[in-house]
Amino acid sequence: MIAIIGAGLIGLSLAYELTRRGGEVRVFDVGEAGGAASWAGAGMLAPDTEAPPSSAMQRLCALSLDRYPAFVKGVRADSGIDPRLHLDGILHIALTANDSERLRARVAASVAEGIPARWLTRGETVALEPSAAGNVIGAALFKREGHVDNRRLGRALRAACERQGVGISAHCGSIAIESDARRVRGLRTTDGFLAADVVVNAAGAWASMIDGLPEHARVPVHPVKGQMLALAMPRGLVRRALWYSDGYVVPRDDGRLLVGATVEDVGFDVRVTADGVRTLLDAVLRALPALRDLALVETWAGLRPGSADGLPYIGFGALGGYAVATGHFRNGILLAPATATMLADIIEGKACVVEPGPFSPQRLADPGNRMTVPA
Ligand code: GLY
Repeated sequence: MIAIIGAGLIGLSLAYELTRRGGEVRVFDVGEAGGAASWAGAGMLAPDTEAPPSSAMQRLCALSLDRYPAFVKGVRADSGIDPRLHLDGILHIALTANDSERLRARVAASVAEGIPARWLTRGETVALEPSAAGNVIGAALFKREGHVDNRRLGRALRAACERQGVGISAHCGSIAIESDARRVRGLRTTDGFLAADVVVNAAGAWASMIDGLPEHARVPVHPVKGQMLALAMPRGLVRRALWYSDGYVVPRDDGRLLVGATVEDVGFDVRVTADGVRTLLDAVLRALPALRDLALVETWAGLRPGSADGLPYIGFGALGGYAVATGHFRNGILLAPATATMLADIIEGKACVVEPGPFSPQRLADPGNRMTVPA
């Protein structure tokens, strides 16, 4: 039996993968399945635009992006819910000469690494994305990127898991790990004790706070708040995800345009604040003045799980049978399929496609294995 704490996209993707391989899996969450950061994110699949902080992370992100079409196809077939995957590129628009210089250099570096990217003139940008006409002077097109509707993906994964026989217990009053000096024994929840061979901590920003976990097995995870809002747009007004220097917009098929996101170190605070909304609106209207008259239809906030060095924790922790999958920071939705494959391989004792050492939950305890990651 494998017990997973956390029914977000990471925990559910892992449950889905393990069950497809014949494993017996149960998932527990104190909140809603597919909730928290999995619900709050924008669903951007942007390893090239986000420029993750190490080459190992870039490889993992690229691998996960490659897996997305097959992953979504499987989840869709097993759930009957379409997570609305779009891989039509992300445009990073330049509004100043500085932006333009920086983005042209990024495009050149990306192309040199074999990443499909192109610099677009103002005319080419506006032809592709008329909504950017206001102040744009050019744009970097990262061609393989896109977005998925993460709220739909959460519902689809839950349904696909349940159809495969995964027991999902949401809204648990409490969840605690039980262990002896050497290894985990299982989980105790309000429903009683479940013996498990492996317990996986996929509790996102809350992963370091799980009851019953010995101090030496905790990984340092901290919440990084992101506030977002949605505008109602006429169909097709914004055609693809757009980045600008201080934010981004992502179109949803239901006519909402998501605007993100703040990055705030304020603990477990999920209030939407006046300053947060003003910051988002100032940035988006500077970049895309054509959106000025759209109705503001939704605001929300979520907590990204930040790790100590910017890389996720994926693998076994410092206690027998205890595995971790968290710390994905800005890339949890993108990294769900690769995390699931990688951790399922590790649990089954198989070789991973990507070198797992840089992501080991034990890397920070071993100074010889410590990563140096630029801030
Ligand atoms: N991946 C976008 C964000 O975290 O805001």
